Amino acid sequence: MRIDILSAVPDLLTGPFEGSIVGRARAQGLVDIRVHDIRDFSSDRHRKIDDYPFGGGSGMVLTAQPIVDCFEALDDSESIDEVIFLTPDGLPLKQNVVNELSLKRRLVLLAGHYKGVDQRVRDLIVTREISIGDYVLSGGELPAAVLTDAIVRLIPGVLGDATSALEDSFQDGLLDGPAYTRPAEFRGLAVPEVLRSGDHARIQEWFEAERVKKTRIRRPDLLSGQD
Ligand code: ADE
Repeated sequence: MRIDILSAVPDLLTGPFEGSIVGRARAQGLVDIRVHDIRDFSSDRHRKIDDYPFGGGSGMVLTAQPIVDCFEALDDSESIDEVIFLTPDGLPLKQNVVNELSLKRRLVLLAGHYKGVDQRVRDLIVTREISIGDYVLSGGELPAAVLTDAIVRLIPGVLGDATSALEDSFQDGLLDGPAYTRPAEFRGLAVPEVLRSGDHARIQEWFEAERVKKTRIRRPDLLSGQD
């Protein structure tokens, strides 16, 4: 898979893709992530990329020209499946969306900044708008990193244990249950006996019941099938 990320603050996007699972996936050639600085495409002689909003209001708006030129300068060696704009007024990101996107071959992510981007960018090149939650961050870079991480771990071959992604919270509409490792007792707290029983059927049943219990308490909306 190939992911191109267009950003006004590309420095924010180096760390998240260097280590851990995404870093390893890149090293193995399972994903090709390229970050592009939209400022490099500004036709302004001071490399300006924002301006005052028409109609007034606070904050600056990213201008259309550098973003659209940056997008059009992407190599067309492979066709682009989706151009995703990360924005708090996008559709909320859910696991089913991540699953769908993980099947694509090439994605472009656009990270907004300041007060937003000129609506014509959205009208001209964006195919999908995604929010990572009902809170406002200073820009779309961290959301782009979140979305990339969620997608990359689903690419076949990225996770060592082929089944582990399927057992994640949300993949079957339930939150994850608790996890324990050694020692069997820590500061007076013992690992539940059932997990040491070796009885796989009982263990499965116990995990399932724990997951339902936690989901009922924390996220009853998941059980009633509403988002
Ligand atoms: N940009 C700023 N806040 C955001 C959010 N919550 N989701 C996606 N992009 C954003």
